[in-house]
Amino acid sequence: MKPDIEQIIEIVPEASGLMTRSGFQIHDKGSRENLVTSSDLAVQDFLTARLSELLPGSGFLCEEEDLADVSGHEYVWIIDPIDGTTNYARGDENCCISVALIRGGDPFMGVVFSPWRGECYWAEKGRGAFCNGHPIHVSDRPYENGILFTAMSTYHKEWARYCSEIIYDIFMSSNDIRRTGSAAVELCLMAAGRGELYFEMCLKPWDYAAGALILCEAGGCVCSFDGEFPSLRNPSLLLAANRRDSLDRLQEAVHRHLDAMPY
Ligand code: IPD
Ligand code: CA
Ligand code: CA
Repeated sequence: MKPDIEQIIEIVPEASGLMTRSGFQIHDKGSRENLVTSSDLAVQDFLTARLSELLPGSGFLCEEEDLADVSGHEYVWIIDPIDGTTNYARGDENCCISVALIRGGDPFMGVVFSPWRGECYWAEKGRGAFCNGHPIHVSDRPYENGILFTAMSTYHKEWARYCSEIIYDIFMSSNDIRRTGSAAVELCLMAAGRGELYFEMCLKPWDYAAGALILCEAGGCVCSFDGEFPSLRNPSLLLAANRRDSLDRLQEAVHRHLDAMPY
C-alpha cells in the first residue's frame, strides 16, 4: 500500500531534530571538500528506520554509508540526510533533508525540509508543489532575466575550467548567478519562483531526486546532458529551468562547451 505524503511530511521534520546546532563531529570523506558529520549519519539512520516501518519491503539509495539496496523493489527511497553539509557544519541556513520516493523507477513523492530556513517543500506526482502548505509555481521570467543557480564541480576540480566556461556563457546572456551550497534547496527556490536556471556538471541522485520532482510539479523542467530526465541510479549532469525554451538554451550552452571534451 502506498504511503500518504502527510506521513512523510511528519517524519522528515522529526528527523531534523538530529541536526543540532553544535556538538556534532565532522569528518572528511577522502578529500578536504567532501564532508560528513555525525548528524548526517544520525538523520539517515532515523529516516531509514522510520520509512521502512512506513513502507515495509521498500529499497533505499542513501548518500552516507553506501546504502544502496534498490534492485527488485517497486518502491525505493532516495535520501540525502543533509544536503549542504558544508553549510550545516558552519551553521549556515542553506542545508536540508531531501527524501524522494520512487515507484517503478519514476519519482512519485518528494519532500525537502530546510529547518533553519523554516521551509518544508513537497510534491506528489500530478498534485502540484507546495511550500509550508501553500501552492508554489515557477516564475515566467525569460532566459535573459533568469537567475542561474550553479556550482563549480567542487568534488571534481579537474572539471572546473569547463564549468567556469559554461557558467560564463550563461551569465553573459542571463541576469545573474547564485551559489547557495545545497542543490536541493536551490531546485526548491526555483520551484517557488526565486530563480530560473540551473546547471551543475555532476550531481548524485540524492541531490536532485526530490527537488527535481518538486520543480517539475511547480511547472519547471529538468534534464541531463542528453535531454532526458536525469538518472536516478547514477551521477548526472543537471540542467533545470522554469520554462522549456530556457532549458533548451541551457542545453545549447552546455553542448557548445562539452561536445569537444571527452566527457
Ligand atoms: C552538495 C550540494 C551542493 C552541490 C554538490 C553536492 P552535499 O551536496 O548539493 O550544492 O554543489 O554537488 O554534492 O555534499 O552537501 O550533500
Ligand atoms: Ca547532497
Ligand atoms: Ca549530503
